[in-house]
Amino acid sequence: MIPCIVPEKINEVRYKLMEVFKDFPEYLPNASEYVLGGFAALGNPASFHHPYIRELRNLGFQTAINSIPQTHKYKQMLFDRVLYRKKGQKAQPESWHRDITPNRDPEDIIYQCWINLDQENQYLSAVPGSHNAETGSQTGFAKIEKKDHEILKASSKKIAIPPGHIIMFNQNLIHEILATPAKKDMLRIYFGLRYTNTENPLFDNKEIIAKQGVPALPSGQMPPMYSINHLTIFMKKQFGKYEGLEDYCSQTFKAGILIEFLSKKNKTIHKICPRIMPSLQEMGLPLYQEYAPEEIAQYYPH
Ligand SMILES: [Fe+2]
Repeated sequence: MIPCIVPEKINEVRYKLMEVFKDFPEYLPNASEYVLGGFAALGNPASFHHPYIRELRNLGFQTAINSIPQTHKYKQMLFDRVLYRKKGQKAQPESWHRDITPNRDPEDIIYQCWINLDQENQYLSAVPGSHNAETGSQTGFAKIEKKDHEILKASSKKIAIPPGHIIMFNQNLIHEILATPAKKDMLRIYFGLRYTNTENPLFDNKEIIAKQGVPALPSGQMPPMYSINHLTIFMKKQFGKYEGLEDYCSQTFKAGILIEFLSKKNKTIHKICPRIMPSLQEMGLPLYQEYAPEEIAQYYPH
């Protein structure tokens, strides 16, 4: 666990982030849920490119690399999401898995990291030592077979991450998503740290950075705004305070970013936010300040 933000500063960071969220250009002023699903990690392009979020991600990355010896020729920062889970929200329990970056070099060591921006501990449930095992050819969100769950559960540990600290773990570590409801509004900034001997960046984010688009996550997956179930079962069916996905989208997003979606089931057109959002530029929204060349360089092996 690496100290990153002093406890006295956490409230200020939280306050600033709330202001940043309210200012996101994709949303209506009275939007209350920025993304659907209990995991609650944001997927709108502004949540990756707002200068304050970039600043926090950079701070996390710099703090992490300064805390461990560099074992490889190069280091690289990987984009990841901001999590904003409101009090009472809980993630779907997702069973034991690893998040493995596709096409990584066999010598790479990639860490999944997050900064705890709460005044309380956050927790990771993981199986200590499991990063040393052979991971085989699986990539992405790599689930562990059901038959092994019991033994994993028995050897797993719930690891506390104190306020303002970074948790950093090898992406080969087996972990699970805990489904405990948030006791207070929870904030986290995720990022990836890759140590490599190659100059291949794995993700070429040149265009994503220029147009301020949504980057792939370290697992290679694209961050969605809602689940497939929302597109099918819940398009017109109530969840929370909404009369379905279409209603959520019309109450949440600016009209200009909604697209027409043809439901195959009832042959109706619905106006919704794209499940994977386009870039700020493609949506005709204002871009934040350009990335400086030194900032872009962080996202490549250097
Ligand atoms: Fe994971």
